[in-house]
Amino acid sequence: NKKIIFPELFFTDKNLVGRDVCKISRNLSDLKGIFADVEAFEKMPQDKLAYEVSSFLPEKEGTPGGLYFGITYLYPGKVGNEYMMTKGHYHASIDRAEFYWGLEGEGMLILMDEQRNVWAERVFPGSLHYIPGGVAHRMANVGSSLFSFAACWPSDAGHNYAEIAEKGFSARLIEVNGIPHLI
Ligand code: F6R
Ligand code: ZN
Repeated sequence: NKKIIFPELFFTDKNLVGRDVCKISRNLSDLKGIFADVEAFEKMPQDKLAYEVSSFLPEKEGTPGGLYFGITYLYPGKVGNEYMMTKGHYHASIDRAEFYWGLEGEGMLILMDEQRNVWAERVFPGSLHYIPGGVAHRMANVGSSLFSFAACWPSDAGHNYAEIAEKGFSARLIEVNGIPHLI
């Protein structure tokens, strides 16, 4: 089970083992309001696990110059015809960038700039994605198995979920004839 292997697998420096590891999980109820098909959403078990994030946060939140590392495990599924996805956010310090890279499974990275232009990138094992400052980011699992990806972001980036919770992204990733479409 890869979820259990992290972080031990990655911490070759034994001094880092056990330092500031944070694990969060979000179930469907934490994602209320993000999917278009409210009726389909409400019929689903609200305690269903949607994704888990294991993070290594070696610096205090807000420290300039430091880095954070995390792996997200996003389970497959759909709400209506919309793929299971993360909440999505801008960084609170909006100019902070981030790297994402694909580990296993099939995903799509949905990106939106401050003018609300949306685009998407296909994510697969080994794919690398640079998210510039000012770009909101959300991942979707478009496959039928576990999708995982790694992330590296500045320790002074912070997260702004409110903007996305209120206004959403200006496009959605919908399955049409078995293929993801940004609509
Ligand atoms: C950190 C980052 C990722 C996400 C994670 C969960 O800046 O982008 O580690 O935090 O994929 O997604 P959210 O945070 O949108 O629930
Ligand atoms: Zn981020």
